[in-house]
Amino acid sequence: MATDPAQLPSLPSLPPLPAFPADFLWGVSTSAHQIEGAAELRGRSVWDDFADEPDRIKDGSTAAVACDHYHRYPEDVALLADLGVDAYRFSVSWPRVVSPGGLDFYDRLVDALCAAGVRPVPTLFHWDLPAGLDWLDRDTAARFAAYAERVAARLGDRVGTWITLNEPAEHTLLGHALGVHAPGRRLLFDALPAAHHQLLAHGLAVRALRAAGADAVGIANSHGPTWPASDDPADRAAADLYDTLLNRLFAEPLLLGRYPEGFAELMPGDVAADLAVIAEPLDWYGVNYYAPTLVGAPEGTETESGGVALPAELPFSLRRIEGRPETDFGWPVVPEGLTELLTSFAARYGDRLPPVMITENGCSYEGLADQDRIAYLDGHLRALHDALAAGVDVRGYFVWSLLDNFEWAEGYARRFGLVHVDYATQARTPKASYAWYRAALRAQRA
Ligand code: BGC
Repeated sequence: MATDPAQLPSLPSLPPLPAFPADFLWGVSTSAHQIEGAAELRGRSVWDDFADEPDRIKDGSTAAVACDHYHRYPEDVALLADLGVDAYRFSVSWPRVVSPGGLDFYDRLVDALCAAGVRPVPTLFHWDLPAGLDWLDRDTAARFAAYAERVAARLGDRVGTWITLNEPAEHTLLGHALGVHAPGRRLLFDALPAAHHQLLAHGLAVRALRAAGADAVGIANSHGPTWPASDDPADRAAADLYDTLLNRLFAEPLLLGRYPEGFAELMPGDVAADLAVIAEPLDWYGVNYYAPTLVGAPEGTETESGGVALPAELPFSLRRIEGRPETDFGWPVVPEGLTELLTSFAARYGDRLPPVMITENGCSYEGLADQDRIAYLDGHLRALHDALAAGVDVRGYFVWSLLDNFEWAEGYARRFGLVHVDYATQARTPKASYAWYRAALRAQRA
């Protein structure tokens, strides 16, 4: 493990970051399916089934081994300690927890984190649903709450900060509406029941976690500014609809106890009763931010955005944001989009918005001397500071991701890590961005 700064590529000289509050929580994020491997020691998930289908994963890979974090977690916890983060966001694999000895792994991981002085922040669902379960079934919500209760009973003596779900919007859109993620359904707007059942699962899990003594329960939702492609009313209407899907459909049931106009009618079950559960107050609200989206009226043809093909029949089309640097994924780099998102969110939800944490932010670039990643993170932290200065109550920031990992349908082609992983040898090598983040955290505490 080469963590001696002398062995790292030279650091660029950037002006120091502005000072964040002394109690600001600095962290990094990962998820179980993307790093753990040891697939033979857990039950199958919908992602195992999906990866076994031809042409689902771009490089034909699976997450069976991934970063072998299951066996190498002591080395990875040492990397976290050396990095100097306050907190580590990881996810618990539901298919592992229901397998014999599965919870023992998280017990060991949490012990190792506590011994290293790093606060464990588990996410209970990061897309790896046990095979055989289905978010279109209402019953999955109750099963999720029972699973949450079981994990909390085992880890709750050392874990106080919890995340129920990761990005139910992306899981609904990519997994159930467009079919580019597991479980591979292409239901378009008929996917909405999967959204409702995830939200219900969240609300039931909040209750279960609170009953188990949790003191800081949140959720990690994906959000970003939605810009109309032009002032044309058709482009504006399309952008409004996209904004509703990304920034309101999941936030409003959680924060306001209601769906945006026109959506409650599309949801299954006793929606009013469910909303009372879904709106269980949160201690904090997690935002995953990567980039804004430029949206126009439908163009009558399939469009492509960030590697995802969008069918012609959708009531919007996604356009390229010109004139911006792009990550290796083709995502535009727009740091001030984070300020815009947070200030508009605070204005929209007012005192219904609890303290915010940025639960993911990062980018995919090749190479160890990853100056582009440093520029991305530096720019986004300055933009985040601008949001704080504008009065938004943000309490923490987590980089996605600690390690290069299995990037879902992209396989291993995208590298989001502060630490490079050689998948042939499993050697971990910190990148320049790791040294930069470490130095930035030290400077904050100096
Ligand atoms: C997900 C991560 C993913 C990252 C980069 C987020 O949507 O939560 O699992 O790796 O984006 O695509």
